[in-house]
Amino acid sequence: MIESDRTEERATRARRASRPRPGTRPPGAAPAAGSPAAGRVPRREAGSAALPAAEPLAALEHRHLLGMRGFGGEEIDLILDTAKAFAEVSTRPIKKVPTLRGKTIVNFFMEPSTRTRSSFEIAEKRLSADTLNFSPSSSSVVKGESLLDTARNLEAMAPDMIVIRHKAAGAPHFLARHCRSHIINAGDGAHEHPTQALLDAFTIREKKGRIRDLRVAIVGDLLHSRVLRSNIFLLNTMGADVVVCGPPTLIPAELARLGVAVTFRIDEAVEGADVIMMLRIQRERQQGGAFPSPREYYNLFGLTVERVRRARPDVIIMHPGPMNRGIEIDSAVADGPFSVILEQVTNGVAVRMAVLYLLAGGTLGELAG
Ligand code: CP
Repeated sequence: MIESDRTEERATRARRASRPRPGTRPPGAAPAAGSPAAGRVPRREAGSAALPAAEPLAALEHRHLLGMRGFGGEEIDLILDTAKAFAEVSTRPIKKVPTLRGKTIVNFFMEPSTRTRSSFEIAEKRLSADTLNFSPSSSSVVKGESLLDTARNLEAMAPDMIVIRHKAAGAPHFLARHCRSHIINAGDGAHEHPTQALLDAFTIREKKGRIRDLRVAIVGDLLHSRVLRSNIFLLNTMGADVVVCGPPTLIPAELARLGVAVTFRIDEAVEGADVIMMLRIQRERQQGGAFPSPREYYNLFGLTVERVRRARPDVIIMHPGPMNRGIEIDSAVADGPFSVILEQVTNGVAVRMAVLYLLAGGTLGELAG
């Protein structure tokens, strides 16, 4: 765990302890028909039969979204339930709600991105926020301005939130210590990519109806993957059974401590899987020599139609993108009947709308009401 994760966890625990838990509705009242909360069974701690059932969490306890480490199941459920409510907005002829009118959001992307950047921008526009897109090539970063000075100057213009992607692990945590704005991690080095894990969880829940007890196989370049780390924290919290697979040269030692099964054989990983999540081979981050050739990698770890047959008949195939077709995944699988890869992208907008709304102080009750 990096030190900045510990600092954020301590701050969140303190906020959690001091904040009275808000209710989404008066005690005993039924949730609004058709609302995301309707039909959900209130949680009850084991052995607390005499206590009244706890109200579901209505507001986020975290001030920032820096990573999935430290997020509890209730907060994750809240984000996914809120995303479910927002998903409908993208199906309307006029895809816009006034929810974040008057809020300013800076998209501070210091690394390339197709999906995450456009997904955040679309989510912000659908919520009527004012957005500023900031990239290194069009800024004074090319003149050597530091991350802190850049952030302080952006903050001087009073944004409400900063969405940051950066090659350095911990960069969003650094901003969170120095900025008043809410910080959202859109991917920091090989550390975390929390909104990717949340949209993956939303997609799994939509397709399978649950996350608990599903067998999720995650295969690929485990060493360099921020998507892997965020997914492990989230899936473990939500009670999935996670198995990870990749070449020994691309498996970090820390995985053994993260409560997942590890295998070097893809056939073993995908056997009986409910979900197969393929990860990109990140050739730009590898120092060289992790495997002999792309062809060898495909033969040993590529997801083919034959390998998919080992999984459950209703398996779903996921990939965060961008894909290396013919290296980690066969095109017949990527474009085949079990693939939900483009649905992940669609769901990303709703999940990011939910994250922005909740970090701005919104509650699910207000949305449902
Ligand atoms: N999944 C993902 O992070 O893709 P981008 O790098 O295109 O944002």
